[in-house]
Amino acid sequence: MSSHFTPDSELDLFFSADLIPAQVKAQLHPDVHLRPLASTDYHRGHLAVLSVLTIVSDPGESEWLAQFESMRAAPKTYYPIVIISKQTDQIVGVGCVFIERKFLRGLGSVGHIEDIAVDKNQQGKKLGLRIIQALTGISENSGCYKTILNCSNENIPFYEKCGYQKKENEMAKYA
Ligand code: ACO
Repeated sequence: MSSHFTPDSELDLFFSADLIPAQVKAQLHPDVHLRPLASTDYHRGHLAVLSVLTIVSDPGESEWLAQFESMRAAPKTYYPIVIISKQTDQIVGVGCVFIERKFLRGLGSVGHIEDIAVDKNQQGKKLGLRIIQALTGISENSGCYKTILNCSNENIPFYEKCGYQKKENEMAKYA
């Protein structure tokens, strides 16, 4: 595991970093960097940060990489991003927007924001806000007519701060 910050040019990124809105990057704290998920991020604490959100089991690096490649094989569909600490080269925040294509609304698309998590020691520093702003920008720049997400009651104030409003209900059936 490297502790030196790895620039984007040395990484195999999930999608082009140019798709991350420049104005969001410009507002980031200087100690961190926001970029697409990279093929070596298994070694930068990706699963550890996700485990802030829910139960995460470690599939091992090769299975993690196989999932990365199978998601990337669906073009213009998944946009996973990470925030990296420049000091440690470790991930401190994660999120993803999934672009769903539809037959309605003139063959419109909807962005689904999923799996937002910020390292417990880094919460409250606007990293979550920047992740949501970046993902919303990617969704809107992809032509989505809306961007939606599910969250707990406790997280409603956070998403309201990010410009989202409560709408409708979530239904779930677990297998
Ligand atoms: N209640 C009220 N306000 C909140 C909350 C909360 N739970 N969380 C953040 N805020 C406010 C902050 O105070 C801040 O307000 P300000 O602009 O007035 O100062 C604003 O929202 C932005 O907060 P950030 O600092 O960007 O939030 P943070 O980086 O801590 O990230 C997050 C928020 C992602 C919810 C983080 O706390 C976390 O990882 N929680 C555990 C995992 C989780 O619940 N993830 C979301 C699941 S939903 C989904 O994935 C679609």
